[in-house]
Amino acid sequence: MKQLNIGTYPLEESLATLENAKHVLATPSGMTAIQTVFQTFLTPGDHILVNEDMYSGTLKLLRTLYVDMNISCDKIDMSDLEAVEKSITSKTRIVLLESPSNPMMRIYDFASIVRITRKLNQDTLIVVDNTIMTSVLQNPLELGTDIVLYSLTKYQNGHQDIFMGSIVTNDSDIFEKLKITRHWNGFIPSQWDCSMVERGLKTLRIRLTKHESNAKKVIDFLKVSPFVEQVFSVGLQSTDESWAARQMNGSNGMVSFRLNGDSEFAINFLKKLKIIMVGESYAGFESLICIPAVMTHHNVPKEDRLHVGMTDNLIRLSVGLEDPEDLIVDMNRAFILANQESVRRQE
Ligand SMILES: Cc1ncc(COP(=O)(O)O)c(C=O)c1O
Repeated sequence: MKQLNIGTYPLEESLATLENAKHVLATPSGMTAIQTVFQTFLTPGDHILVNEDMYSGTLKLLRTLYVDMNISCDKIDMSDLEAVEKSITSKTRIVLLESPSNPMMRIYDFASIVRITRKLNQDTLIVVDNTIMTSVLQNPLELGTDIVLYSLTKYQNGHQDIFMGSIVTNDSDIFEKLKITRHWNGFIPSQWDCSMVERGLKTLRIRLTKHESNAKKVIDFLKVSPFVEQVFSVGLQSTDESWAARQMNGSNGMVSFRLNGDSEFAINFLKKLKIIMVGESYAGFESLICIPAVMTHHNVPKEDRLHVGMTDNLIRLSVGLEDPEDLIVDMNRAFILANQESVRRQE
């Protein structure tokens, strides 16, 4: 069985330095990072608590494979700290968080959730999927969490050309256990993929700065557009809460917005775009746009989607590194053309 390749160690060292962490394991995708953590620590009878708007692939895994293994899962609004307190039981093995959530961009207070969890169950591991921020913008280990995992496919690689993942921890016992699971599953990334991520890391900081400044310009445009009802982004909500300012060093390039129009308007808007490409991935150098309800999150039950505000006219835009004016002109043109079609439809 393939155990390690020559490219894995240097990449893991780079990732550990970036995160200021003791141990990193690279995996061939974000999903294999998640699977490695679940397989290592969840056993039949255990309970896992996640934020209700967690990454849809993780929710699907918990709804299918892990339910069959008798692992129960509760999905809650993690901004409600009383609900967190009520939901942790003696069986809770993992509390899994993603903040900001995707696509609603809701943020959760890691330090308070760590404090509550530790008080109620010393055996519970607090795990953060930090894909959407990276350690440049947010370092959950410094706030007392046990494990941080990533889809490196996104910002760290940044070039939309490979899949990879990683798991980060400061705890040597946790690390040794995870290493065994990775080994037995053969979850070892290729040397080529490792070198591609190394390439991406060299420009990560500067890319994030540009993603953030481009996103700010796009948000300013969306906020005043008559075709947009509401805009969601980390940058729009992070400053007034002191815990949020402590938790995050800035914002990323992710923006969601609810259209002033129905699902057909949303589909037509995407069809009319010429520069921004339609795609389910995010966090790469090129902008990608999607309708989560019918694309990335189509497998989330409709009532769960609506419960968190993911309507059919909600758009998620991963703002890339293009000239933001080009993106704005492209969206404005697409809004006008899609609106003309809506008016024709109603006539
Ligand atoms: C937050 C998050 N975690 C994990 C994953 C899975 O990563 P991968 O596509 O690298 O398997 C994704 C994929 O979109 C994601 O958005």
